[in-house]
Amino acid sequence: MSFGPPAGSPFGGPSAASTSAAAGLPFAGMPSELADRAERILAAEPEHIVAEVPFSAAVFDREPFTLRRFLRGHRLGLLGAVALVVFETLSLQAGPLLTQIGLDRGVAPGNLEVLWWVGVAYFVSVVLNVVTSAWRVAYTGRLSERLMYELRLRVFSHFQRQSLDFFTGEKAGRLMTRMTSDIEALSALFQDGLVSLAVQGLTLVIITVVLFVLNLKLAIVTLLVVLPSMGVLTLWFRGASERGYGRVRDRIAEVLSDLSESLAGIRVITATNRQQFNVIQHANVVGEHRDANLYASTVGAIYGPANEAVGVVGQAMLLLIGGRMVLNGTLTVGELFAFLLYLTSFFAPIQQLVQLYNTYQQGQAAVLKLRDLLATEPSTVERMDAATLPPIDGRIELRNVTFGYDAGQPVLHGLSLTIEPGETVAVVGPTGAGKSTVAKLVTRFYDPDEGAVLIDGHDLRDVTLHSLRRQLGVVPQEPFLFNGTIGENIAFGRPDADPEEIEESCRLVGLGDLIDRLDAGLDSLVHERGSSLSSGERQLLALARAFHARPRVLVLDEATSNLDLLTESVIERALDVVLEGRTAIVIAHRLATAMRADRIAVVDGGRVIELGTHEDLVAAGGVYASMYDTWSAHS
Ligand SMILES: Nc1ncnc2c1ncn2[C@@H]1O[C@H](COP(=O)(O)OP(=O)(O)OP(=O)(O)O)[C@@H](O)[C@H]1O
Ligand SMILES: [Mg+2]
Repeated sequence: MSFGPPAGSPFGGPSAASTSAAAGLPFAGMPSELADRAERILAAEPEHIVAEVPFSAAVFDREPFTLRRFLRGHRLGLLGAVALVVFETLSLQAGPLLTQIGLDRGVAPGNLEVLWWVGVAYFVSVVLNVVTSAWRVAYTGRLSERLMYELRLRVFSHFQRQSLDFFTGEKAGRLMTRMTSDIEALSALFQDGLVSLAVQGLTLVIITVVLFVLNLKLAIVTLLVVLPSMGVLTLWFRGASERGYGRVRDRIAEVLSDLSESLAGIRVITATNRQQFNVIQHANVVGEHRDANLYASTVGAIYGPANEAVGVVGQAMLLLIGGRMVLNGTLTVGELFAFLLYLTSFFAPIQQLVQLYNTYQQGQAAVLKLRDLLATEPSTVERMDAATLPPIDGRIELRNVTFGYDAGQPVLHGLSLTIEPGETVAVVGPTGAGKSTVAKLVTRFYDPDEGAVLIDGHDLRDVTLHSLRRQLGVVPQEPFLFNGTIGENIAFGRPDADPEEIEESCRLVGLGDLIDRLDAGLDSLVHERGSSLSSGERQLLALARAFHARPRVLVLDEATSNLDLLTESVIERALDVVLEGRTAIVIAHRLATAMRADRIAVVDGGRVIELGTHEDLVAAGGVYASMYDTWSAHS
């Protein structure tokens, strides 16, 4: 049983083909000549070895993410690209120089031999240029894919490392944008941008040198006319486009998060007739995205032509000045011709650079967003010297815990509770009292602001997250199912288990009927987050998943709240078996569930206000007793 990536995943690329090769071709009856060809293609596919990706929750790159630092690791690859670029540019720029030689030494003195040589040299330079150019495109394509792969993994690992508060604080859609659209914006930069930037920059340098060599005076005039005006334009463009593209990135994030929320909440939207409202809201979000894009493209639209105008004016002036120099006899026609040719190819890279600068600014906006994202530290970090938690007996102690999700607004106030190994403690209390919060602290989804949570005397902050969570089983209040089969969902924490064990866990929680009913049994597919199952069935699956990992400590947060009374009583009995010898925290609204626990803790206002066995608490005549009275009067 494996949770490998689905075949044909969006980032699958060529691996999708090799997966279907392994699985056998998807349909029968393929004509033999086609089958032969398909087999040849598949045989030529490179082997895709499943990458061993190192992942650590605590160790990651904490330096700010910048383009330069990111590329530093690929210095050698980039150097190769630059070498190809140098060769490509040199071979391209030989043209005008050869033209000058041909005109001045071949045509003017009427020397045919020189013309022949110049022709051959021209041909060779063109062939060289085509070859290096093709090579360079393929090379940078590969390099860019490698960079994207690394970046995607890095961002994804960063998400996986974050603590719970990160995901409640950030909209899922915004995080998706970072992963998709922002990284894509960088892709354009890696693919072509950086290298073209080098090509064009280098061309400029070469041409400037050649211009100076050809004619000092003309070269100085050119630079004096062209450079200052272009410099001013570029300074303006830089500021304006940075603002513009930053806004575009923000707006894309808004569009995607609005989209993902509308899709996820479609049931509520339909039921409450909010479709039209949602369309209007989306129109606003999309409209702002359009406006941001319009602004950015207007900025580009001004910058490009303005630059071109500067270039044309420069060319006109040079024709005038250079023409006079030819008439004076201080310049040959060939030199003027070469100069003007070079000047055209001087402006071409400038135009290119303008385009590239646009791409660069877009990429830079994405880099800034990614930098912010990659700078977020998980709030529950593992200490560098964290010890491995040894196999535990399961004594849980919350010692004087004060905790709030937002600073200055504590949800738990100095809460203390000790649970002995093997004991089951039920936590009851009104809605919003802090019961789920207690569960989240015990599993170290959050760290307490004051006080400590200990297991077998170990402060949770001192042990590795992995060794802690391996010994804890959690059924959260809102169970989550993954795309895959029922079996895969149950075996989530222990994927290597054999099918009999999975089935046993299933039957234990009373899912036996469901599995017998489904044609494919354990191999039945769970659709989008389990929408094809009832919410009671989803809870049972989540229970089975928690049992299946055989943890020492189980935390059940309203794990049976969606079940009918009969199923619940089946589960209660199963629970008695499963919880035997294990420590358990059972959060329950139903007193029937709570009553079965060894002790009951009543939580209200972030404190434990009553603690004892069912009999004790009823006898004490406090809050629990009145809850019990109400409940028994109703049933
Ligand atoms: N992620 C969060 N950010 C900010 N406040 C939160 C967050 N989660 C819960 N709270 C607040 O903390 C308080 C306690 O929430 P908790 O989920 O622990 O209640 P509960 O006792 O489990 O309630 P219920 O019986 O409804 O499940 C509530 O007032 C809630 O609004
Ligand atoms: Mg709760």
